[in-house]
Amino acid sequence: MSTTPVKVAVTGAAGNIGYSLLFRIASGALLGPDTPVELRLLEITPALKALEGVVMELDDSAFPTLAGIEIGDDPNKVFDGVNVALLVGARPRTKGMERGDLLEANGAIFTVQGKALNDHAADDVRITVTGNPANTNALIAKSNAPDIPAERFSALTRLDHNRALAQLAKKAGVHVTDLKKMTIWGNHSATQYPDIFHAEVAGKNAAEVVNDQAWLESDFLPTVQKRGAAIIEARGASSAASAAAATIDHTRDWLKGTAEGDWTSMAVVSDGSYDVPEGLISSFPVTTKDGNWEIVQGLDINEFSRAKIDASTAELGEERDAVKDLGLIG
Ligand code: NAD
Ligand code: LMR
Repeated sequence: MSTTPVKVAVTGAAGNIGYSLLFRIASGALLGPDTPVELRLLEITPALKALEGVVMELDDSAFPTLAGIEIGDDPNKVFDGVNVALLVGARPRTKGMERGDLLEANGAIFTVQGKALNDHAADDVRITVTGNPANTNALIAKSNAPDIPAERFSALTRLDHNRALAQLAKKAGVHVTDLKKMTIWGNHSATQYPDIFHAEVAGKNAAEVVNDQAWLESDFLPTVQKRGAAIIEARGASSAASAAAATIDHTRDWLKGTAEGDWTSMAVVSDGSYDVPEGLISSFPVTTKDGNWEIVQGLDINEFSRAKIDASTAELGEERDAVKDLGLIG
């Protein structure tokens, strides 16, 4: 085992996602069995007592890869020297809300945390935003951290990607491991566009294998787009274990790399690829290697896909304008 622990910050650590996420990170699911990890856990002051209870349980799990735990309510201290920051802490939506309705409640969290990361994180920091509305919260954090390269900020659309894989696998009668090259475009919202036109089922084009436009439009797209709301309706609380699993998948693949011949979906800063307005944090097909990502280039976008991508990125533009009006970004 290497000796220097990787410092991983998790915000909202006493929350529902945190309760699943922390134990997976501590057990080596994020960085592997040979890398010791130090957890740096941020909460708001009233939740620190509950967080102390979670820390007792982490201690009691005797994880071989867990090298230490720091907790606190001051991001300037908790983020000191962190190599990975998982920004989960934010209010979840409740029944009847869209994620964008949380902008006003949650946006300000990401100005403070962006500044604290800017001033205190390690030079190699990688930041994943899970707290909703994730894309625009990542934009706020990035805008408040001018010294951190823009490509170190990302938002989670891996849960949508995984949901899309599960639905396609069911339809095609295969296992998710038979699928490759799924893409989520745009916003982590009901306008997101899960694209199967470049996906593969056992090496064959997924749209051709499925060959069912009615299923695509009336079943697959709405099921994936509205899965978060369906879980809130059924559970009375938003997805937590699957969100934690996706946060691990996203960040692990970013650090360790995507498999040869495949890609994943991450919301990252747009360079204008596929006519997504530059500067928005939008989901793209990406390959990753050694902690860096690249947007997959050269995909043919058909008319159907073009309209869907444009609708989702237009929503991201509206969210950006809204947070500008709120004074959360310059
Ligand atoms: P939760 O309410 O159970 O936990 C949130 C925690 O964040 C609470 O413990 C709260 O005290 C803490 N918190 C609030 N403000 C904070 C701050 N300024 N600093 C540190 N901690 C703070 O919610 P949850 O179910 O864990 O969900 C967290 C967020 O993740 C929500 O916004 C939810 O909508 C979002 N989410 C995103 C995805 C995704 O795919 N991107 C999936 C599921 C949930
Ligand atoms: C999800 O997709 O499950 C989360 O973003 C929670 C939500 O509000 O839908």
